[in-house]
Amino acid sequence: MFQITIEQPEDAPAIEALLDEAFGPGRTSKISYRYREGVDPVPGLSLVARQGKDIVGSIRYWPILVGVEEKPALLLGPLAISPRLQGKGIGAALAFQTLDMAAWAGHRLVLLVGDLAYYRRFGFAPAASHGIRMPDEKPERLQFSALAPGAIAEYRGDIRRWRRLPPASASCAA
Ligand SMILES: CC(C)(COP(=O)(O)OP(=O)(O)OC[C@H]1O[C@@H](n2cnc3c(N)ncnc32)[C@H](O)[C@@H]1OP(=O)(O)O)[C@@H](O)C(=O)NCCC(=O)NCCS
Repeated sequence: MFQITIEQPEDAPAIEALLDEAFGPGRTSKISYRYREGVDPVPGLSLVARQGKDIVGSIRYWPILVGVEEKPALLLGPLAISPRLQGKGIGAALAFQTLDMAAWAGHRLVLLVGDLAYYRRFGFAPAASHGIRMPDEKPERLQFSALAPGAIAEYRGDIRRWRRLPPASASCAA
């Protein structure tokens, strides 16, 4: 039995340990981490799976921009399950639940770097054939899921790091 809840700030150390265990050392040198460092995960979309007091699964989403028009989208990941509990449907539960939540929240496109063989079951398909790239990443590793019908047609180009808009006062100076 496991329970799924929204990630809390105090869960961070246990999640880091889980990610180290699931992905091994060097995970933060992956290309996708360029879009996470210094950026906060999307509030309310990062979930954990708990078994008793232990965190046994984690999924997070990050804001990103796509193309020269800098259209907002979500970057899913990491998704990780404790090695001793893999293959029991926890990853699927976290993915299905968060994708539903993201659609309800009005997000239109989710991208991720991962195996299509796993993520196809959640509605993901290759992004490269739609002209979306993550610079320096293998094109076949980039997958997308459109959360609104036809949303993929709105996106084209390279993925860019999220940037905060400047404060209103900066652009309204007299
Ligand atoms: C990949 C991962 C998140 C899946 O979560 P999980 O809870 O173990 O998976 P589920 O129980 O939801 O699904 C199990 C199914 O996924 C399949 N699967 C798992 N990883 C897979 C992969 N990389 N490619 C293809 N299929 C995969 C299993 O073979 C199994 O198939 P079946 O349903 O036909 O038996 C988990 O195994 C994990 O944390 N792995 C290490 C970290 C990782 O690779 N994260 C994903 C980045 S791409």
